[in-house]
Amino acid sequence: MSDIITVKNLVEIYSDGTKAVDDISFSVKEQEFFGFLGPNGAGKSTTIKILTTLLRKTSGSVTVAGHDIFSDAAEIRKIIGVQSQETTVDGDLTGRENIILQGHFQQMESSKLKKRVNELLQLVGLESAADKRARNYSGGMKKRLDLATALVHEPKLLFLDEPTTGLDPQSRTAIWGYLQKLNKEEGTTIFLTTQYLEEADKLCKRLAIIDFGKIVANGSPAELKRQVGADSIRIGLENCERDRDKAKSIIKTMTGVAEIVDSEECINVYAQNASSLIADIVRALDSTDIRLTSVTFSQPSLDDVFVKHTGRRIRAEELVKAPSAMFGGRR
Ligand SMILES: Nc1ncnc2c1ncn2[C@@H]1O[C@H](COP(=O)(O)OP(=O)(O)O)[C@@H](O)[C@H]1O
Ligand SMILES: [Mg+2]
Repeated sequence: MSDIITVKNLVEIYSDGTKAVDDISFSVKEQEFFGFLGPNGAGKSTTIKILTTLLRKTSGSVTVAGHDIFSDAAEIRKIIGVQSQETTVDGDLTGRENIILQGHFQQMESSKLKKRVNELLQLVGLESAADKRARNYSGGMKKRLDLATALVHEPKLLFLDEPTTGLDPQSRTAIWGYLQKLNKEEGTTIFLTTQYLEEADKLCKRLAIIDFGKIVANGSPAELKRQVGADSIRIGLENCERDRDKAKSIIKTMTGVAEIVDSEECINVYAQNASSLIADIVRALDSTDIRLTSVTFSQPSLDDVFVKHTGRRIRAEELVKAPSAMFGGRR
């Protein structure tokens, strides 16, 4: 498959001097499910806005489906669908009317549009709410309507900016299902941003991890986890600042230790034989005046990938706990 998105040395500096995107390069292949994973403020939305021709880049080069984003913006808009981070639902219109309106913007022929609208309402599970005003929809329903709206003209390339942020678990799972189906069955290329490790891991065939405007890692979830190379042992110390270096120098000499990085708990140790190493670490530190507060062991996750590259954890906005019901409790 050939590349549908190519980004080279992209930089975005806002007028107040904020460097939101700091020299990033990456490419996305046709029919790929590609993810941008990063915490709040990493530069995800800025990148999506540039790629979807809504924001002018400061420098670098970007092509989408072979078109230059600056000189061929109109061509690009015809083939892409965009779900922005903020909902764009018009509350005065019904769900159905929202999708129809977008179809008109896309200059779709009415009989085709009517059929498509019904398909989409079904796809995102909004049939029974289709003729209610969208202002009464729950957050999850608005996000699903936004998704349907972005899909009206059957775009071959879909941009989704945090499509599940703030949703309850059921809505999130439903959206994951539609996206996987769209990618597998329709061959739609998807570029998705998220701050959820689990979402990136589950959906994306390949992803870039972005932090402070830079790509810190890029690969398939499995590759990235493999690069961590080992299981991780997270160690909390009572007096981290004072004891960190000493603890690191003790642990460093132990067999099987691949890497030690600073973390929020205090130290992360990556090792092949982590489970057997834990006892050695506890014993070794016990014979010094270094006091442990916690020791936890885990197989590599994308969180470890993020920690390995940034020393921090991704703190995603919390899930909405209770699913917000509407229309007599229908989901
Ligand atoms: N219009 C703007 N003007 C100035 N700074 C901005 C603007 N929009 C976003 N930023 C800043 O750019 C950085 C990246 O923001 P954004 O792309 O929205 O990140 P993300 O989508 O990953 O949360 C942040 O520091 C943010 O505060
Ligand atoms: Mg954003």
